[in-house]
Amino acid sequence: MTRRQLGAAVLLSLVALCAGRCAWRASHPDPVESAHAAALGELPASTQAPPDPWLASFFPAPAAGADGAACAECHVAEAAALATSAHAGAANCQTCHVREGVVFAATPAPSATPLPEAPHAVTRQPALSSSAFCAPCHDDATPIEGAAGKPLHETFAEWQRTPAAARGDTCQSCHIPAGDHAWRGLNDKTFTTSAFTARAKFISDGTRMVGKLTVTATEGVGHRLPSAAGPEFVLSVDQLDYAGLILEGTHREGVIGRRLDEAGTVELFDTRLLPGEAHELRYEAPLHEDCGVVRARVEVRANAVAAERTLVWEERVVISR
Ligand code: HEC
Ligand code: HEC
Ligand code: HEC
Ligand code: HEC
Repeated sequence: MTRRQLGAAVLLSLVALCAGRCAWRASHPDPVESAHAAALGELPASTQAPPDPWLASFFPAPAAGADGAACAECHVAEAAALATSAHAGAANCQTCHVREGVVFAATPAPSATPLPEAPHAVTRQPALSSSAFCAPCHDDATPIEGAAGKPLHETFAEWQRTPAAARGDTCQSCHIPAGDHAWRGLNDKTFTTSAFTARAKFISDGTRMVGKLTVTATEGVGHRLPSAAGPEFVLSVDQLDYAGLILEGTHREGVIGRRLDEAGTVELFDTRLLPGEAHELRYEAPLHEDCGVVRARVEVRANAVAAERTLVWEERVVISR
């Protein structure tokens, strides 16, 4: 028996075993995810930094009318970057830099080139460069009842448990390297693809197709993939005909993300990944007689009901008969 025949024989017996279930699956999409990622474990006391008192007094919101316009006049580059970023409308210059008329800046100044004298006083504040600075808005420590004991956002607590934190990478080093104010996130494809690797494997005996698409979170992400309850990574597999069209009944999909019910009080599923963890979309279906290519994809959408998806990874496997 050649290796190929052996593979086919093993596959055929697998097919016989699952025949009933496969037939059902062929006409039904995969069930919605049902996994619930565990709550984060305790952080060793030795790795906990005491909360910075400056940060405690810094949030929330600055005085009314502080919309950043006065700063944009001179700080053109930061204003332009912020305006097209995910923070546009969410935070302005004063929210992050100003309290009671005092402008706070990170220390040391990130620029090596000598700068002109500021027309306003600048107070150096190292906490501006710490991950804890983002926590008041991206981490609320209170667990939601019914949501598997996890808070709505806990990006900072996740970050504390990652290889990124261990090697000294802060939220700022990944999201605004060199102090640019682009706040790259899921709107940046290159940045998003640095957060995971994907692998697709399929085998067929000529009548059925089995395989899987595996997505693994890398150390390029400094929290869970994805972190907030909302954004979703959609994994899908389709059989395509020779013209590249999806063949009916061959679509399967899975989701990496955390979905809550409409009220935001009950967790429907949580398949998010900490760096190093993987999610698998398993595929079993009859091989369509017109199938020329199997296509595996990873797409991102802003939330469960968003119609728009951004393609971030794709692989096509040609089926030879
Ligand atoms: C009239 C022009 C002008 C206005 C208005 C202005 N700045 Fe500045 N600012 C400067 C200059 C010039 C510097 C020093 C050079 C530099 O850092 O770009 C500076 C420095 C800074 C720094 C420190 C940079 C560093 O590390 O050296 C921060 C932070 C800052 N400004 C924030 C603000 C904020 C927030 C506002 C609005 C409330 C504002 N500025 C309004 C011109 C201005
Ligand atoms: C969401 C919070 C946030 C907003 C909004 C924001 N900044 Fe910043 N900004 C920061 C952080 C954090 C740093 C420090 C980055 C680092 O340490 O790498 C910084 C750095 C800077 C610097 C370099 C000097 C320094 O403090 O290190 C300037 C200048 C600056 N910001 C100006 C602005 C201006 C002008 C606006 C409005 C157009 C603005 N920022 C909006 C958080 C913010
Ligand atoms: C004053 C509150 C506030 C602060 C401080 C703040 N953020 Fe945000 N941030 C928001 C809000 C609101 C949004 C938009 C809603 C959302 O996507 O969660 C947002 C969005 C983002 C996004 C884009 C999300 C996406 O979907 O791609 C990133 C990335 C981000 N923030 C990173 C940071 C980092 C890093 C820091 C600290 C250096 C920080 N933020 C500080 C309020 C804040
Ligand atoms: C090692 C790099 C790295 C570090 C450190 C990091 N991030 Fe991210 N972040 C990413 C990447 C890559 C993505 C895109 C993939 C994703 O959504 O998980 C992302 C996405 C996000 C998003 C948007 C979508 C989501 O997943 O909810 C937010 C908000 C965010 N990060 C905030 C933060 C905050 C706050 C910190 C610090 C507590 C931080 N990040 C630390 C790399 C990093």
